[in-house]
Amino acid sequence: MDPSTLWWSFSSLAAAFVLFQMFTVPSHLRHLPCVPILPLLVSYLSGEVEDVRIKRLILPFANERDEGLVLVWALGRWMIHILDHKLGAQMAENPLLYPKELPPDGLLLWRFIGGSNVLLANGERWKKHSNVIRDAFNLSIPIDQFTHLAKNLFDVINPPSDGNDTHTVDFSDLAQRFALDAVGSSVLGYDFDAIRTESLFVHEYNGIMHDIANPLYLIMPFLEKVFPRRKVIKRMDNLVDKFKMLLQAKRNDPGDDMMTFMLKDPAMSEEELRDNMVVLFIAGHDTSAGGLSTLIYFLAIHPEIQAAAREETLRVLGPTSIPSVDTLSAASLPYLNACIRESLRINTPISYIVPRAAVEAVTLGKYYIPPNTSLIYNIYAVHHRNDVWGDPHTFRPNRFLDNTERGSVLKDAWIAFASGPRQCPARNFALYEQRALAVMLLREYEWILPADSIHKNGLKNAFSPFALTLPRDLHITFTKRKC
Ligand code: HEM
Repeated sequence: MDPSTLWWSFSSLAAAFVLFQMFTVPSHLRHLPCVPILPLLVSYLSGEVEDVRIKRLILPFANERDEGLVLVWALGRWMIHILDHKLGAQMAENPLLYPKELPPDGLLLWRFIGGSNVLLANGERWKKHSNVIRDAFNLSIPIDQFTHLAKNLFDVINPPSDGNDTHTVDFSDLAQRFALDAVGSSVLGYDFDAIRTESLFVHEYNGIMHDIANPLYLIMPFLEKVFPRRKVIKRMDNLVDKFKMLLQAKRNDPGDDMMTFMLKDPAMSEEELRDNMVVLFIAGHDTSAGGLSTLIYFLAIHPEIQAAAREETLRVLGPTSIPSVDTLSAASLPYLNACIRESLRINTPISYIVPRAAVEAVTLGKYYIPPNTSLIYNIYAVHHRNDVWGDPHTFRPNRFLDNTERGSVLKDAWIAFASGPRQCPARNFALYEQRALAVMLLREYEWILPADSIHKNGLKNAFSPFALTLPRDLHITFTKRKC
């Protein structure tokens, strides 16, 4: 054999060995149920959206085999997905035993977010970040900002003055702009003016997220080291630099937003403030936008539910009163609140949480978990278990108005904001944001799906590599109500 053939044979064998090692379940995890690798790889390479992949490949383990967890290969390794809320609660309640895992080296999203923030920190460092952020969210709920932004949205939704009283708009795009303006004005203290203008931030952020989501790099994250994507990195670093400038501007010109509050904390370094700013920007707008679009979609396809939510809204707030923390509370609007909870259940904006790793061997239910195994709480799967929800694929808000024992089981299994000490610190903010916009829209318009909607046979989400479930190209036809 000539030396070049020998070299090729050796390289092919080495590559085959590396691939075998990468895709084979490690021996210490082989006792656990496992999603087969081939369909998973096909799913990743074909860009299948997360919710469809979960329904097709992961949920059958919960609904047909009654498993509480399953091994899933993702981002270059095998991880355990928890499919049962009782097992998930065991993990979520104990962040010391199950800290967040250090993200794999080189993954671009983590470079964007940075390492010194509330989302990724553990132990005492997490407490420090978390206390400041929770205090900031406890300051007040910016209802006036939400209603002001809703009125900005009306300017885009209102029919053009051509005698026609209906107008079709891309609501998924508008919801993202609304949520960005909400987080910008009240949390970050910066007016992106995204509803009314083509915001550079929205453009750059969407471009970066699109670039990061290259399926090959998602399957083999080590490629980031072998063939670094310099253009994407530069684009990302430029956006992060803009955040640094916003921070400096805030320092020079403080406001009554949460970032100004955080800047007053002497314990927070410049890097920590910047990283938290990026986290709040990312965590705070796509999630809310996904929830809002899903709500508007389900109210569009269920006119009787839309009418009931409108009836409650008009009864509590009348046609023109200015909404307040009291009138927008869950207690004042139980039916609308149930619709929102049901939307966040059926099309969970964050399908699963950042991976945790148990610091020692543990037992979850009947499953033995070796130390340092990656664990993910699969919120989407928990929200679609037949044995808990009965009819998980049906939009039925009334299930959240059930005050019996069964209703309290559902409350425990509803984990749209996760659970335990590390659940979303902005859940109250986010729920008020949803109720505020919903109330404003219900009083002003009636809406339906246009006849040619891509969603007429079911809601379609956009592709996202990072567990975000966001309806795509959701066009909605709004008709202005006559008072
Ligand atoms: C409907 C809207 C929202 C949903 C469904 C949602 C959901 C979640 C979930 C599931 C987590 C846990 C993630 C994990 O443990 O890996 C989380 C954490 C977090 N969320 Fe939200 N969220 C929403 C809105 C927001 C908003 C508006 C903000 C900020 C403006 C925000 C800021 C955060 C932060 C900072 C964390 C990290 C908390 C920690 O690790 O201690 N979220 N959210």
